[in-house]
Amino acid sequence: MLKTIQLDDANSAVVIVDQTLLPGAVEYISLTDIRQVYEAIFKLRVRGAPAIGIAAAMGLYIHMKQQPSGDFFCEFENGRKYLSGARPTAVNLNWALGEMAAALEKNRARPVGEILVALKQTAERILSDDSRICRAIGRHGAALLKPGMGVLTHCNAGGLAASEYGTALAPVYAAQEAWVDVRVFADETRPLLQGARLTAFELQNAGVDVTLICDNMAAVVMAKGLIDVIFVGCDRVAANGDTANKIGTLMVAILAKHYGIPFYVCAPSSTIDPATATGGHIVIEERDGKEITHEWYKTPLAPENIKTFNPSFDVTPANLIAGFITEKGILQPPFSCKW
Ligand code: MRU
Repeated sequence: MLKTIQLDDANSAVVIVDQTLLPGAVEYISLTDIRQVYEAIFKLRVRGAPAIGIAAAMGLYIHMKQQPSGDFFCEFENGRKYLSGARPTAVNLNWALGEMAAALEKNRARPVGEILVALKQTAERILSDDSRICRAIGRHGAALLKPGMGVLTHCNAGGLAASEYGTALAPVYAAQEAWVDVRVFADETRPLLQGARLTAFELQNAGVDVTLICDNMAAVVMAKGLIDVIFVGCDRVAANGDTANKIGTLMVAILAKHYGIPFYVCAPSSTIDPATATGGHIVIEERDGKEITHEWYKTPLAPENIKTFNPSFDVTPANLIAGFITEKGILQPPFSCKW
């Protein structure tokens, strides 16, 4: 499995696999200043809710290493705010930056060198916790799987979106380790094709039986009885259980309800945001319409200057979700501050 994100402390760099080049090329790039980290998150070179949190935490750490001590606290705040604006929907970005802020606060009275150590440890802890959490999600989710079952997934919530196992693909990997082989159907996930470019690539490399379908084929595979369960990741879960995930997820959830197929959301508990009451309060990122008309195609596939609408995420209402597979088990809303 590829290492999605690593900290190269000796060279003050965040090293990522450039996911915009996959599956054609596996290229690692070193991000050595905060603007590069921002750009990589904004352009989806690194993407997926947990991964952007990890990249931002590491990016903030390398940024602070480069600061003259006089401006340290002010620069931390500027850097934190700057990175948190890179993408609005995933709670993990702000959550990870909040963990960094808490580490700074705890060590505020110490010399800058010691604060930097605490920041580095926090960024590395976020990464290692993520991989432990993804494995636990895998264990809980795999308990729902039996040999030969058909799993549908949307977008990419695998190792490329987090660490190692990822979230929605974690049950599949955990089942595979236990010799329970399932068949996965991957929605291509227009417009940025994370399913085609990333999920298909990741699962094929892992030796999982994966079939790529266009988004508008999900109903057919369900109608044919090929799908037993649906696993998706998510970017933010509101207190009432409404869930923001990649655009197209809502469509899959509605179809799942129609065909009586259980639809599960897989996420670290840090993706649950009790401070957001309902899905209506989740800020949905809107991206450049050129992603629909131009990106990934040799020549534009739509007329010049066509009007577009390109929300990057949608919100699935809680009543369509069978459960939330987290590291703590399979949970049901509502999620209070103390859950
Ligand atoms: O725009 P992306 O590719 O960052 O969107 C990713 C998703 O929607 C994932 O399902 C979600 O972030 C969970 S990743 C473990």
